Amino acid sequence: MTEVPPPSTPEAGRYEVHRFQAADSASPEFPTTAEWIRAVNYGFYKKALADTHVAKTAAAYRVDDRELTGVYETGPGPEGALSSDRPVATFASMRKTLNAGYGRLVPAHLVTAVTVRTDHRRRGLLRRLMAEDLARAKADGVPVAALTASEASIYRRFGYGVATHERRVTVSTGPRFRLAVPTRGKVIAAEPAAMLPLAPAIFARAHRATPGSVDRQEQYTLHAAGQWERSSGGEDPGLRIAVHLAEDGTPDGYAAYRFRGWSHEPPTMDLLDLVAATPDAYLGLWDFLGSLDLIERVVWDEAPADDPLVWALEDSRVVRAETARDMLWLRILDVRAALEARHYAHDGELTLRVDDALGLSAGYYRLAVVDGTATVEALGAPDGEALLSLDIADLSSVYVGGVSPVSLLQAGRIRTGESSPEAALALAQMLAVERPAHCLTHF
Ligand SMILES: CC(C)(COP(=O)(O)OP(=O)(O)OC[C@H]1O[C@@H](n2cnc3c(N)ncnc32)[C@H](O)[C@@H]1OP(=O)(O)O)[C@@H](O)C(=O)NCCC(=O)NCCS
Repeated sequence: MTEVPPPSTPEAGRYEVHRFQAADSASPEFPTTAEWIRAVNYGFYKKALADTHVAKTAAAYRVDDRELTGVYETGPGPEGALSSDRPVATFASMRKTLNAGYGRLVPAHLVTAVTVRTDHRRRGLLRRLMAEDLARAKADGVPVAALTASEASIYRRFGYGVATHERRVTVSTGPRFRLAVPTRGKVIAAEPAAMLPLAPAIFARAHRATPGSVDRQEQYTLHAAGQWERSSGGEDPGLRIAVHLAEDGTPDGYAAYRFRGWSHEPPTMDLLDLVAATPDAYLGLWDFLGSLDLIERVVWDEAPADDPLVWALEDSRVVRAETARDMLWLRILDVRAALEARHYAHDGELTLRVDDALGLSAGYYRLAVVDGTATVEALGAPDGEALLSLDIADLSSVYVGGVSPVSLLQAGRIRTGESSPEAALALAQMLAVERPAHCLTHF
């Protein structure tokens, strides 16, 4: 275990913060990793994990090169309390990439496994861990942090804004399910084991094609290969895989799905994952799922909020969608680096005033876009009226083009100067992306 000298102590002397990499199950340091994994599980109210599940989780963490942070009580607790070897708070991060539109992959600091045990909550542990972590990521030169949230009320205070949405859809797959457009390529039933190389290869293409996409962690490959059922961590004998082949035979999409069982009415297929690198693959896979004999419904929890399927169907009402929920939250750490990393749909020039309660990125910035390329200048002092004033959470929300600055203007989150009422629309046009932003990765 690597101790960070000196340990952070949110309540003087009571806690120690340790940061370390996951240890292999054969390593003498494995018990620390295992207790950390069990603490995360405990924090999300899940059943205790089997030892094999813990070892598998640690192995996947090593592939992802996650940094694990644990907060430990310094002394033994009262009799009967959970062991002091188990952290009272957990936090993890890993470095992946974010598609900021037009295939531009930006380094991203992904935050995950955030838990504070109930008997230690609301004492500032999360605030301390998050503030330290974001400052370290910024010091490393990473322009943006990201997370997915258990509750929508926690992370705005740390500068995170909602950047993409997803929604649960229930699709009737009876005779009403017919695409109004021709499909190209074909779909084959595939061996789950074939997904060990195929899933990451197909995802890499989808990642480059989808604004808002975040690169995936190792678990996803093992899910697709049937080697890691989401709740048990064991083999997944009910998993079915369909792979879409383009007209030249190249695999360019896959769907992972599972039958709910004959005791469930109407007969339902749960769509666990659908990754498509091309529109042909997306519609081809839906055409396949919509024509599974004996099945009357396909349910997918992670459908895009702006879903081409709805437009491709003859009867769009076969898709019943729940209200879209927040999915990817972004937190720009370095305004200049983040904005200059993007490609822009329209040229223009704007002065932004950015507020940031954590002090990481506050200031005045001039964004000038010529031929789709931005130059961002940090202004020591305003050179006239700021055209747009906004919090870093709101700039992060609009960053990958999945949320419109015009909506945030109407919501009172963005303010425009009196002389520039059109500035939010101008920013929306500049930030427009080549296809609807969507994040396929939960972490
Ligand atoms: C959410 C959680 C990590 C918060 O940890 P914590 O140490 O109690 O948080 P802190 O004491 O550092 O609180 C920091 C701030 O967030 C606020 N906050 C914390 N949890 C909140 C919640 N669930 N909803 C709204 N605000 C919350 C606090 O009021 C505090 O506000 P302030 O500093 O602006 O006054 C903890 O309650 C938890 O583990 N929950 C269950 C697991 C979970 O949902 N994890 C998040 C996964 S994305």
